[in-house]
Amino acid sequence: MRETARPFRKLVALLALFGLSGCSGRQSALDPAGKHADELASLFWIMLVSTGVIWLLVIFAAFTAVKFQPQAFRWLRPGMFILLCGVILPTISLGGLLIYALQLLPGARTSAAEMTVKVSGEQWWWRVQYQGPEGKHIDSANEIRIPVEASVYFELTSPDVIHSFWIPALGGKLDMIPGRTNRLHLIPTKPGTYRGVCAEYCGTAHALMAFPVIVQTQSEFDLWLKLEASDAVRPGSPSAVKGENMFMETGCTACHTIRGTQARGEIGPDLTHFGTRQSIGAGILPNTSENLEKWLRETGKLKPAVRMPEFGMLDQSEIGDLAVYLTGLK
Ligand code: CUA
Repeated sequence: MRETARPFRKLVALLALFGLSGCSGRQSALDPAGKHADELASLFWIMLVSTGVIWLLVIFAAFTAVKFQPQAFRWLRPGMFILLCGVILPTISLGGLLIYALQLLPGARTSAAEMTVKVSGEQWWWRVQYQGPEGKHIDSANEIRIPVEASVYFELTSPDVIHSFWIPALGGKLDMIPGRTNRLHLIPTKPGTYRGVCAEYCGTAHALMAFPVIVQTQSEFDLWLKLEASDAVRPGSPSAVKGENMFMETGCTACHTIRGTQARGEIGPDLTHFGTRQSIGAGILPNTSENLEKWLRETGKLKPAVRMPEFGMLDQSEIGDLAVYLTGLK
């Protein structure tokens, strides 16, 4: 008996571990780092516990009546039973939960925006635009930075297909619909790095469009925004100069902008400060020279259906120079 119980116990422990591991981490709605995510997590736990209690009571009553003591509820006359268990109890319990859930609806509360970030869902990456001090637009991509405790409104749209913008640790998700601008309000409460994703199937690379979200102090954010608004740094080594020439001559400028250079393409992500970003290819690889070389050589293999062509025709040293130039864009 003991021999068979042991593997079973191990299996239960393993399953519990898998289940609980989903409750923490940088992409978990149950490990909130924002005001709205906190409310949603509380809503989840309150609903889970209260419906769990109701379920246990019903199962207990059913088992008692069917299995153990068929006479247990005889004192309740049929009419009384229906009134108590079919009307009064459900009205009180479900009504209470409904009122609690309704007051959490976003439309019920508004608050002033301290900051607006425009995000457009592209196939399959994120176009991000901040507002600078004098109303100047600052283009960026595939990464979002916001100050902690700020009331941030995201203006969400898309040029072609529907995506859904979701940063589980900060709050609920909202669709990005072509021809429409949806506004999502978030207030981050804990500094850290979180993960945002696309939560609506939008085509082949749907699962490969994510983005890091960096919540930092106001002063860190201000410093970063100032840097992000500036033009790209000039290449700092002979290899980077070669890389820049390669970038300008092999067609990259048709799709990418690097402010301060002749690269003005708008089809793909703005790369002005690419070197400061954490990821390559919209959240799919950490931003290192090695990964960037791999990305340039095997773009379509790393991200099937990606719209960027591969640069496999360049030799190893040319790819290396390109990577040195791009990762140096701090
Ligand atoms: Cu974009 Cu799914």
